Amino acid sequence: MDKILQLQSVVNKLLDGKTNIKALEAGCGSYRFIQFDKNAYVIGIDISEKQLQLNSYLSEKILGDIQYYDFQNPIFDVIICWNVLEHLPKPELALENFAKAIKDDSIIVLALPNVLSLKGIVTKFTPHWFHILFYRYIWGIKNAGKNDTAPFKCYLKFSLRIQAIKRFAINNSLRIVYFDNYDVMDIDHIRGRSKILYVTYKPLMIFLKTISFGKLGCSDFFVILQKTQKAR
Ligand SMILES: C[S@@+](CC[C@H](N)C(=O)[O-])C[C@H]1O[C@@H](n2cnc3c(N)ncnc32)[C@H](O)[C@@H]1O
Repeated sequence: MDKILQLQSVVNKLLDGKTNIKALEAGCGSYRFIQFDKNAYVIGIDISEKQLQLNSYLSEKILGDIQYYDFQNPIFDVIICWNVLEHLPKPELALENFAKAIKDDSIIVLALPNVLSLKGIVTKFTPHWFHILFYRYIWGIKNAGKNDTAPFKCYLKFSLRIQAIKRFAINNSLRIVYFDNYDVMDIDHIRGRSKILYVTYKPLMIFLKTISFGKLGCSDFFVILQKTQKAR
């Protein structure tokens, strides 16, 4: 089963029985991976006005910074933060904000790159102009980096390590109810884009995973954190 479909079915189960769902898409951009019931009220917050303008599925739009925006009360049944935390200089502030903004039994769905992976390390330690060139010449997106479009500046802080997120969950009365990881640079994906990457990436990845004794992992992961009364 496709990893995103699997995640969607876990989210559906966790939200099962809730009516009038209030959802937050944190760093919504213009696209969504997780779908909700048609009655759900979906608020999107993004720091880019342009991205908010391009977004056509939201019930309400907020122009703001998820590290500092004050949601005031625990109002959300679900918060989705998909490929955003890596773009924040202080992702731990956003995570704390999310923990305060969800109701009991509600969930935070995070999708992000694994800093302790080949892709993660290359992304973290290369400059933004390199990411732009990669998007333009490897992924073939001609206007990449222009006019408030991807790639967005990337920090990928070590505080986003899987272990650090587990610690964050424990310290904030959350528990991890789902975890999955995957390689976004899977070989079929690369094959169609770049021959050089195709012949070098997989052997390099296997070599690095071996010499790191398994410490380097898959490129990306999903995690769902749930605030439960039990965890309080
Ligand atoms: C890679 S895009 C992901 C967009 C969307 N979540 C998706 O998965 O397609 C990152 C988004 O985060 C937004 N962003 C970056 N820093 C932010 C911040 N501090 N507060 C809110 N949004 C932010 C960007 O404007 C951009 O729309």
